Parts: sequence; structure tokens; C-alpha cells
Amino acid sequence: MGLLLFYPTPVFEKENAMTEDFNQKLEKFIIDYSNNNEESKNWSKQFYGVGFTSYGSDQKLHEKEEVFSELAKGLLPHVKEFLTQIKAVPPPTIVCNDMWCTINRPTSGHPRHIHPLSAVSGTYYVNADKDRGCLNIHDPYDNRAMGMMFEPESPLAFDTYTIEVKSKKVILFPGWVSHSVQQNLSTKDRIGVSFNYRVYYDNSGVDPSSSGP
Ligand SMILES: [Fe+2]
Repeated sequence: MGLLLFYPTPVFEKENAMTEDFNQKLEKFIIDYSNNNEESKNWSKQFYGVGFTSYGSDQKLHEKEEVFSELAKGLLPHVKEFLTQIKAVPPPTIVCNDMWCTINRPTSGHPRHIHPLSAVSGTYYVNADKDRGCLNIHDPYDNRAMGMMFEPESPLAFDTYTIEVKSKKVILFPGWVSHSVQQNLSTKDRIGVSFNYRVYYDNSGVDPSSSGP
């Protein structure tokens, strides 16, 4: 009876998700990596404009580099809190499946996309602020321009919501949530680490000796 609202878009944010010491160690690693990893540099030059990302050349940094493994483990309590808040049945196994680093240099951004098959995706912001490009969350209906106008407080008022980014903040959402990264219109680099966590309700397909958290 009455109004029913279906299909909410869950997004979870938490500040100071990791310690300052860890964050500095991670930032140094990413800057060194972006200067020295020829494979990622070449891929980025070919496919990522002025930005740098390891997504196209190595999305398994948490399995290869201690500092990313530490991040994957450190973010796990936040992933669990998010799953609890959306009332997911608690999964016995949560595995970090992908993790990669990105530097959005001035003028670079990232177009709208989703993360298929990922229960919990998101980004941990290593060095970022709202002037260097925030995160956009898009309406899954894509186009609701049917001639109606909405009051600002209506849950249907906007087709894009923007979430401010900040160093040491993590933003989480299910992989189906459509999102994009605003263009960095500042003169400073914006550094982040993005990831996909998968959940399993049995142990099929999970290697118990894997380095997943
Ligand atoms: Fe993404």
C-alpha cells in the first residue's frame, strides 16, 4: 500500500581507514612503483592518457607486494562492517581478488564503469582531496528525464551523487554500482588503491593457502 521504493544504492565511507604511518609507506611505494615499473608505465602511456594505473598490467599487487597485502588485510574490518550494515548474510570467506594502484595526474579521470563479479569494490585514497577529483555514483536507471521535476529532498532528485575523497578514506560499494572519477582539475596528483573483494559461502574455488585475507 502506498509508496514503495525499490533498489537502493549502498555506498559506505570511512575516514582514517589505515594509520598515517602505513599511509606514508604505501604512498612512497606507489610513487616508486609508478617511476620504476616499466610494464605499468608502458601500459598507462598506451591506454591511460596522462594518468598512471597498474590495473592493465598487474591487478594482483596484494599477492606480490607486502604493503598491498597489509592494506588488503587492514581494509577487511571495514568490508565486514559494510556487509553487516547492508544485512548481507555473513560470508565465511572473504577474499581480496584484485588490487591495483592509480595515480590520476592533473587532467586525468576515469569514465563510468562497474566491477563485475565483485561483492565489495572500492578505493582507498592514499593522497587525495576534493579539489583533485571526487567519486561520482550514478543512477542505475541511467536516464529518468521523463518530464518530472523533483524537490531537492526527493530520493529521486539526482542522477549522480558526488562523494568527497580524502587521504586515508575508504569508499566501498557492491561491484554493480555504476561510478566514475571526476577529472583532476588541480595541479597535484591524486593517488589511490582500488580493489575487488569476493565472498564465498563455501570453500569451493578458494585456495586455503592463497594470500587473500
Ligand atoms: Fe571503479
